[in-house]
Amino acid sequence: MENLSLFLLLLAIIMCPIATANGPDPLQDFCVADFSSSGPVIFVVFDKVNGYACLDPKLVKADHFSVGGLHLDGSTSNSLGTFVNRITVAELPGLNTLGLSNVRVNYARHGVVPPHIHPRATEILTVLKGRLRVGFVTGNPENRLITKVLGEGDVFVFPMGLVHFQQNVAEGNTTVLAFLSAANPGVITVANAVFGSNSPIGDDVLGKAFQADARTIKAFKSQF
Ligand SMILES: *[C@@H]1O[C@H](CO)[C@@H](O)[C@H](O)[C@H]1NC(C)=O
Repeated sequence: MENLSLFLLLLAIIMCPIATANGPDPLQDFCVADFSSSGPVIFVVFDKVNGYACLDPKLVKADHFSVGGLHLDGSTSNSLGTFVNRITVAELPGLNTLGLSNVRVNYARHGVVPPHIHPRATEILTVLKGRLRVGFVTGNPENRLITKVLGEGDVFVFPMGLVHFQQNVAEGNTTVLAFLSAANPGVITVANAVFGSNSPIGDDVLGKAFQADARTIKAFKSQF
């Protein structure tokens, strides 16, 4: 009987779902980011965990959990034809430690969000208006492109860490709202990281990577 109880207990522990939010679970009701503290804390010290230090709860106000303006369109007059309005922990300090953020994107006609990665977040996107081609590429060695055209109300998920992109294929503007599974999801735009790094990756390295001559590599680098 005792053995059976032990067995069931062990089974319960094994079956117990492991916390799946990206980032550790909060250690308190909330931890509003205190930006005046010495920046991201990467180790656990009392109420500081994998994010910014917590503002004294007695100083916390409703405004720490709220931000406005996400109904507004931004200017898409840039080389990509897109405007990205991010609400991460930097804009909404109440998101600190909660593993969540969101973003609204405006795309002008032919506007593109170029291939990029969120190293710490899965992204779920909903088209509010327009038509959007979306896609992501699976890892090596297949590097399979998973792509689709979305219409209004369509939802698409980009798995964490994979290269993905969006392209407006509507006659007019497109608008989306997306949620990401990290308060600080991070963005790595592939072209910027590869050709626009500071300082530059050597032409010989990029030449081998892209099987291109030095002139071609220099031409790409000159865009950044
Ligand atoms: C499309 O977006 C641009 C820039 O945001 C705006 O100036 C223009 O009025 C929009 N066009 C339509 C048809 O909504």
